[in-house]
Amino acid sequence: MSENDDIEELFENNRRWAAKILEEDPRAFKDSAIKQNPKYLWIGCSDSRIPAEKILGLQPGDMFVHRNIANICPHTDFNVLSVIEYGVNYLGVEHIIICGHYRCGGVTAAMETAQFGLVDNWLRHIRDVYFSEREEIMKIEDKQKRIDALAERNAIYQALNVCHTTIVQDAWAKGRNLTVHAWIFDVYKGLVKKLGFDVSSLGQIDEIYRTLHIKESP
Ligand code: CO
Repeated sequence: MSENDDIEELFENNRRWAAKILEEDPRAFKDSAIKQNPKYLWIGCSDSRIPAEKILGLQPGDMFVHRNIANICPHTDFNVLSVIEYGVNYLGVEHIIICGHYRCGGVTAAMETAQFGLVDNWLRHIRDVYFSEREEIMKIEDKQKRIDALAERNAIYQALNVCHTTIVQDAWAKGRNLTVHAWIFDVYKGLVKKLGFDVSSLGQIDEIYRTLHIKESP
């Protein structure tokens, strides 16, 4: 198969996909071309094994998606911040899901004494999580389990970062119904799992990271 055939196959797949959608709902593209109304914002890893909408059984229009290497949400990254702002303020999402995954190459690289290129500077965010959590993580004997444990903790730290943005805190101050979740995708089973992090108010985050006072109820 030549390179052109590889690409031609994608167009062929796309034509089949569009025809199937239209067969089920002749108005599908007319409606979705006008507006999107996603309830969820997904922030996940770029890894090709985790197609966000597919694993959750969602349709086009259901979920706003941002993916980067190892699902990192630094407060200085305008890319992820712009996605969060647009999702929260213009699309009105009610859930922000930060989903890590087991066997994450980014997390693995962040635990090694080796250089991979520019990406090492991006992965420094995970190295910092490793540094903070090293005592607990080093108690785990199996190497892959240590990597997977760091992937879980990374998802929680990144969810915390999202809670610490002015965007999310402003939404909460306005009384918006918005919850930030940390999940992990178990690639061994194909299942997503909750990590016990579901935050939906200013009062749930550490006072030091609050940029607004909690309004006293009258
Ligand atoms: Co990954």
